Amino acid sequence: MPKRPSRARSVKKASGGRKSATVHAREHGGRVHLYVGMSLDGYIATPDGGVAWLDPYQDARAGFAPFMKTIGAAIMGRATYDWALKEGNTDFGVPAYVVTHRPFAPPSSAVVPYTGDLRDLVRQVRERHPKDIWLMGGGSVTKAFADADLIDIWSVAFVPTLLGAGLPMFPQRTPAELRLKLVKTHTYPSGVVELRYERRGSPKENR
Ligand SMILES: NC(=O)c1ccc[n+]([C@@H]2O[C@H](COP(=O)([O-])OP(=O)(O)OC[C@H]3O[C@@H](n4cnc5c(N)ncnc54)[C@H](OP(=O)(O)O)[C@@H]3O)[C@@H](O)[C@H]2O)c1
Repeated sequence: MPKRPSRARSVKKASGGRKSATVHAREHGGRVHLYVGMSLDGYIATPDGGVAWLDPYQDARAGFAPFMKTIGAAIMGRATYDWALKEGNTDFGVPAYVVTHRPFAPPSSAVVPYTGDLRDLVRQVRERHPKDIWLMGGGSVTKAFADADLIDIWSVAFVPTLLGAGLPMFPQRTPAELRLKLVKTHTYPSGVVELRYERRGSPKENR
């Protein structure tokens, strides 16, 4: 995989050799990594929010354990969290930040409700946790992150099922071209094809 240009080096030069905490975090990860499964017609869930349609594709979970080794924290939308809560699963394996306009009492210190600017959230998560940040979705939060150009890595598993209707992976975004480069593909026996893209160019200095 091509190496990203070293942001640390350019900032170090600009600050006369002093490294900011943000740069320190980026050297040890800190990339926002979207990792989701999507139906061929672009949905992440059935209209009621269900994801049981993913069950026949268990072989594609093989990539999950290696992925999690790169992850220090997760960020998700309130609807994704509510769905997980309904399923009785609030242990995400890493500290999880839930983006919401409606603060709630978390079940443990590993779940952190967040209301505010998304760029600030990413900065805070980078400072607090080593490794990359898993952007879990859903589509609404992915749209907000994409609009703010906060996603570094896009891993999308295309699932060979057409749902016909559901919750979209890509709700209509504020029009802006985001150019990506393909860095990895993996085809599973069940027909799931995982594509990994990274943003083109180095991250913006203010990210
Ligand atoms: N297939 C997959 O890999 C996959 C992955 C993840 C999720 N899912 C499924 O996707 C479904 C949820 O997706 P979704 O697109 O409907 O919802 P979502 O993105 O999980 O959550 C949307 C909610 O997040 C909050 N939010 C979004 N942007 C915000 C911002 N900028 N500031 C503050 N709060 C913000 C809002 O909550 P408030 O109500 O608080 O305003 C909004 O209603 C679930 O059924 C889940 O199971 C599937």
